[in-house]
Amino acid sequence: MNVLILGSGGREHALAWKIAQSNLLTQLFIAPGNAGTMQFGTNVNVNPTNFEAVKLTVLQNNIKLVIVGPEDPLVKGIHDFFLNDDQLKNIAVIGPQKYAAQLEGSKEFAKEFMYRHNIPTAAYKSFTNHNLEEGYQFLETLSSPYVLKADGLAGGKGVLILNDLQEAKDELKEMLANQKFGAASSKVVIEEFLDGIELSCFVLTDGKSYINLPNAKDYKRIGEGDVGLNTGGMGAISPVPFANDVFMKKIEDSVIKPTVEGLQKDNIPYKGFIFFGIIKVGDEPKVIEYNCRMGDPETEVVIPRVKSDFLELLIATGNNELHTKTIEFKEESACTVMLVSGGYPEGYEKGKVINGLDKVENSIPFHAGTTISNNNIVTNGGRVIAITSYGSDFKQALKQSYQTIEKINFENMNFRTDLGFDL
Ligand code: AMP
Ligand code: GLY
Repeated sequence: MNVLILGSGGREHALAWKIAQSNLLTQLFIAPGNAGTMQFGTNVNVNPTNFEAVKLTVLQNNIKLVIVGPEDPLVKGIHDFFLNDDQLKNIAVIGPQKYAAQLEGSKEFAKEFMYRHNIPTAAYKSFTNHNLEEGYQFLETLSSPYVLKADGLAGGKGVLILNDLQEAKDELKEMLANQKFGAASSKVVIEEFLDGIELSCFVLTDGKSYINLPNAKDYKRIGEGDVGLNTGGMGAISPVPFANDVFMKKIEDSVIKPTVEGLQKDNIPYKGFIFFGIIKVGDEPKVIEYNCRMGDPETEVVIPRVKSDFLELLIATGNNELHTKTIEFKEESACTVMLVSGGYPEGYEKGKVINGLDKVENSIPFHAGTTISNNNIVTNGGRVIAITSYGSDFKQALKQSYQTIEKINFENMNFRTDLGFDL
């Protein structure tokens, strides 16, 4: 079978790495991919949100399965585009249709879904510019810190957590009246602050059955000790030590099952990944957010821990046969440490030559923002390469990644040296 992966990050490189190991694969294509994905398939210079160009790629290369990496094409309706096209309607798309992708694309939609199906989450209310005053009044009923969320996709920047009531009111006005995040903040969800430690859980579902993937914890802030600006993610580990069997069973019973059953009750078809952002409050799980795709950099630790043929599971998802499959994990832990461009997540330069990748032996470098220029692998984004390693526990795995990183360099390379500090 010929397969197309849409996206260009470490997540897509990890998926390409895994799918290339499957006997069921004939040819792999990645659009647009990066300097890492081209080791496992053919990069096609197509933007995943240009659906007509994706269609051409699919038809020209006899592709039968499309895996959508990032959320943007899903929220814009790529799966619906396939279903509504006579030439594409029988091609399997891994990733939900536009309506279901609102679980990620609209905070309010996700909250309403969770309330409807009794899935534990923070109390909330949503506001628009028309009831800004009510928003101020609602803030007054809460205690600090205040959580404000732009309803729509805001590139991971749309959530503000503020200690001061007046600041919270000012920011609410910025979002609603002055469109701080553009159309994404024309509606704002204000919610109860939850205090706890976070982890990410993932399932692959065909809308009826689901398969649990390994859990993971990512480190979102740029600075050591998890301080400073939010990034796409500076590293991850899997499995998460505090998520023991008892806690994972609670997540399965109170979050995962009700979510998949809720989709069925609501008649919402769903083929693809569901990413559950969970926070452990006391001993209880609550949902912070849903995403309609895999996480990045979580995929760079989750996928390496999957022993089973992953393409087989994806094909079964496409065929509504996931109930006939099981999944096996590797016992070992995995970690990934993201090497980023100096300045990221603010301004940074691209085009820096990356040295030392040929010397890497005991880790897997998953490329995120890289490209080829004059026969060199050069930086092409803020997040550049995720260095994944295995170990008997996350500490051993991290030790290996940090040893590997000593061999790699590019100008202004930056990374966090404290992953796992909170565990
Ligand atoms: P989200 O985009 O909804 O995942 O929010 C981004 C980050 O903000 C989360 O990973 C949490 O660290 C934090 N966050 C979101 N909602 C809450 C909440 N209700 N209480 C505490 N922290 C939150
Ligand atoms: N690492 C978090 C995300 O992919 O959204």
